[in-house]
Amino acid sequence: MLSFGNKKTAFMIISFQKNIFLIFLFLIASSCQSPNNSSKSQINKKVDELISKMTLAEKVGQMTQVDQRFLDTISDLSTFSIGSLLSGGGSHPSVNQPQSWLDMYNKYQSQSLKNRLGIPLIYGIDAVHGHNNVYGATIFPHNIGLGATNNSKLVYEVSRATSIEVAATGIDWTFSPCLSSPEDFRWGRTYEGFSSDPKIVEKLGRSAVEGYQSVQSSSGKKVIACAKHFIGDGNTIFGTGMKGLLDRGNTIITADDLKAKLIPKYQAAIEANVQTIMASYNSWNGTKCHASKELLTDLLKDEMGFEGFVISDWQGIDEIPGNYKSDIITSINAGIDMVMVSGKGQPYKKFMRLLTENVEEGSISMERIDDAVRRILKVKFSNGLFKSPIVGNQKLDLIGSKKHREIARQAVRESVVVLKNDNILPLSKKLKSIVVAGRGADNLGMQCGGWTINWQGGQGDITIGTTILDGIKKSVSDDTNVIYSKDGSDFADNESDLAIVVIGEDPYTEFFGDKDNLDLLNEDIATINNLKNKGYKVLVLLISGRPLNIANHIDDWDAFAAIWLPGTEGDGVSDILFGDFESSGKLPYPWPLKAEEGAKADEISLLYNLGFGL
Ligand code: GLC
Repeated sequence: MLSFGNKKTAFMIISFQKNIFLIFLFLIASSCQSPNNSSKSQINKKVDELISKMTLAEKVGQMTQVDQRFLDTISDLSTFSIGSLLSGGGSHPSVNQPQSWLDMYNKYQSQSLKNRLGIPLIYGIDAVHGHNNVYGATIFPHNIGLGATNNSKLVYEVSRATSIEVAATGIDWTFSPCLSSPEDFRWGRTYEGFSSDPKIVEKLGRSAVEGYQSVQSSSGKKVIACAKHFIGDGNTIFGTGMKGLLDRGNTIITADDLKAKLIPKYQAAIEANVQTIMASYNSWNGTKCHASKELLTDLLKDEMGFEGFVISDWQGIDEIPGNYKSDIITSINAGIDMVMVSGKGQPYKKFMRLLTENVEEGSISMERIDDAVRRILKVKFSNGLFKSPIVGNQKLDLIGSKKHREIARQAVRESVVVLKNDNILPLSKKLKSIVVAGRGADNLGMQCGGWTINWQGGQGDITIGTTILDGIKKSVSDDTNVIYSKDGSDFADNESDLAIVVIGEDPYTEFFGDKDNLDLLNEDIATINNLKNKGYKVLVLLISGRPLNIANHIDDWDAFAAIWLPGTEGDGVSDILFGDFESSGKLPYPWPLKAEEGAKADEISLLYNLGFGL
């Protein structure tokens, strides 16, 4: 039995031992932090050290992104510590071949690394349906087609394959996925949205971010994604934007409805660890997104916990009311971390000068600058850019590889939506003859759509791929005679009993596609009529970036399928036409009788519902 004194001593010994044990536990716990926490804290330490050495000019340089075409001289990269370059649509090296892209990247990166502190640049590009600026790259269906597949595993594979091709050329960052859920089909960017249904966009957008960010280049650095355009880009009121552009229009929605309807798809991207988010040109309830602290800081960074960095769109801050100097104050204080300063005449030097002045004059705090630079440097450190910025050419042969084209062909197959079939499909491979007609039948550029090789895309053989006609010829038996005629005129009446007519939209990108009339082209209607008048049954295939006005014509068609913008692997379409695969595509957008009414058309004025497909 212990006496009081002994008891007291014993108590002291036990509590001492307990404390030692607790200290021991704490040491164990802190030493075996989960890997990403430890690497996160290591990165934060490196970033803080670097920032403490940086001059204001170097910080301002890191916040500046320039299109490589508009660099005054390559030494500006190191002189000004420019943080980022981009290739806007069509911003190619002198020769558009994979090796030239890699050489261009390594040339710019080597120059950047000569800046005083050796901070690498981060290079971004719109790889939105494959590494689509690069000749020979695999071109996948645009997002509207991926939406028709509604297959998140496939979207992951498509995005991963895209990043593998992006990484092979050294490039670090794709401005993708677009998380728009477009409601007004008059908008030229409808096809960049997976669906008008934000829930489908949330699901596929998450997979796209995971797929894009799952790839390391041969030098070990990772490719990063960019969720865009934050926020409400596809939900503007037509005609409210600059020159009627929907891009710049006004999205009118309450904060509660914004959070219920449009925020979840971005929250999903953040949960998927998306490293960057691009601000949107449009306004929200009258305030430009690029100017909205409520959106970019209070909501996106503070409430939703986004830890990456926010990039502006192309000259996106220039449209904020006020002069350029005040635009810079408004946008940086709102939460823009890096500005895409582009266009001719070195606007980047003016931007850097004015941003520096604004800080020196106290209109932008050094704290805000340090927050922006910290976010940018954290992304560069955590994606391996400091460790291994220069890339070897070991993986160039993955660009346009057979494996990637097979993934794209599967995506094409699953994107085809059969909407009418009067005992036409599937076609026999042993038909005596088939007539193939229409502007889109043998036109790789048309089937790829915008954002392909050049900003606005192009017509005909713009890259390497398989046209719809090629696919048909490969599918049929040797005894089947395939007769091609673009306008369906120059052949006899009884060549065959079936004609496949491929019609649709010419390529367009962004506001070049804004149209207030969504009728079919008269030329396309004439082609179909030529064939009907000769007694042919017609299977119509529509290449388009959105639903168009077919209600007045479809009764004349014996079968109809929407094939959207399939990209280079056109044989994915004939896989369905000849029954090698069952069609599984479902409409990612409702199809109104009048397409101009968009996704808000009420039930009774729909030709087909969202989700429909035979
Ligand atoms: C464009 C687009 C944006 C793209 C950026 C860079 O204007 O709005 O989606 O990522 O500029 O090309």
